[in-house]
Amino acid sequence: MKHILLTGTAGFIGSNFVPYFLKKYPDYTLINLDLLTYAGNLENLSECVGNPRYKFIQGDICNRELVEFIFREYDIRGVIHFAAESHVDNSIKNPGVFVETNVNGTYTLIDVAYKHWLTKPSLYKKGYETCRFHHISTDEVYGTLSLDPSDLFTEKTPYAPNSPYSASKASSDMIVRAYHETYGIDTVITNCSNNYGPKQHDEKLIPTIIRNALAGRPIPIYGDGKNIRDWLYVLDHCKGIDSVYHTGKTGETYNIGGRNERTNLQIVDSICTILDAKVPMEKSYKTLITFVEDRAGHDRRYAIDATKLERELGWRADETFDTGIVKTIEWYLKKYQK
Ligand SMILES: NC(=O)c1ccc[n+]([C@@H]2O[C@H](COP(=O)([O-])OP(=O)(O)OC[C@H]3O[C@@H](n4cnc5c(N)ncnc54)[C@H](O)[C@@H]3O)[C@@H](O)[C@H]2O)c1
Repeated sequence: MKHILLTGTAGFIGSNFVPYFLKKYPDYTLINLDLLTYAGNLENLSECVGNPRYKFIQGDICNRELVEFIFREYDIRGVIHFAAESHVDNSIKNPGVFVETNVNGTYTLIDVAYKHWLTKPSLYKKGYETCRFHHISTDEVYGTLSLDPSDLFTEKTPYAPNSPYSASKASSDMIVRAYHETYGIDTVITNCSNNYGPKQHDEKLIPTIIRNALAGRPIPIYGDGKNIRDWLYVLDHCKGIDSVYHTGKTGETYNIGGRNERTNLQIVDSICTILDAKVPMEKSYKTLITFVEDRAGHDRRYAIDATKLERELGWRADETFDTGIVKTIEWYLKKYQK
C-alpha cells in the first residue's frame, strides 16, 4: 500500500479528485491535509468518509513540524499539492496570505519531501526512487493574451503574472522548478485553465451566476463582460493530473485546457438559457444581468494550448463546455434548491 499526501482536498478541485483517485487506484492510501480555511468544506468529501484508504488531517501546509510528522508517520511516497489561496479578488484585498500559503507552504512541503526521499542532491534513498512531487498550478502565471485566436499559452510562454494570486502561484512554480534543478527531486507541474463543475465555492463566477439567478437577484458581471477564459470541466482536470502524475516526464510542466474559450457574457448567457428551460420564471434570467465595476488589473484573455499533454500523454478533455455546464447546473440546482 502506497501512502500519497494530497493537500487542499476539501476545496473545489481536490474534492473532485479524491473520490476519482481512490476508486481508480486501490493500492493507494490518500492522506489529505487541509487547513479548512473559508474555502475548504468537509462536506465536499463526505462520500469518502469510512473508506479505510482515506485519512483526513486538519492542518496548515506551512506548519513544518506537522508536515514532517505526516511524512514520518505515513512514510509518504508521493505528493499532489492542491492547497492554495485561490481567489484573485481576495488576493487584491489581502495579498499577504497568498504569499504565505502559496509560496511558503509550497516551499515547506517540497523541502520536507526532499529530505524524506533523498539523502543528498540527486540521490534517492533506496526504495524511494519513484517518489514524485506534483504541483498544481494555473495558466494565470502567463499573464494575459491578445484577442488573436492563434495566441495561446504554451509551456514555453514566459511567465508574466499580473495579480498577487498569479504572482504567488508563479513563485511557487519557480520553487518547485528549483528543487528539481538543484536537488534532483522528481517533480511535475501542471498549469490549468479555469475549472468549473460541482463543489466550487460560492464566491466563484459560475456558482454566483446560478445562485443569484435562482434567488432573483442581480447577476454581477465585471466590466463589459468581454474577458475571455478557457473553461475546463473539473473531472477532465482531475484526469489530466492523474495522467501527468503517473506518466509525465520528470522536471516537466504540462498545460491543461479544454479549448473552450468563452467570454463572461457567453457564460452567463448559456447558464441563463439553460435555467430558462429548466426552471422558468416569468421573465428570462438574462434580465438579471448587471454590469459592475471591473476587477483591478483584470486580465483580458487566457487560452491554453494543451498539445503537449494531448500528444505526449494521450490526454483529451471528455466534456465540451456545452455538456459540462449542463451537469454543473444540475448539481447546483440540487444544492441551491434544497
Ligand atoms: N479553480 C480553478 O479554476 C483553478 C485553475 C487552475 C489551477 N488551480 C489551482 O488548483 C488548486 C486548487 O484550486 P481550488 O479551486 O480547488 O481551490 P479552493 O480555494 O477551492 O481550495 C483550496 C483548498 O486549500 C485549503 N488551504 C488553503 N490554505 C491552506 C493551508 N495553508 N494549508 C492547508 N490547506 C490550505 C483550503 O482550505 C481549501 O480546501 C490551487 O492550487 C489553484 O491555484 C485552480
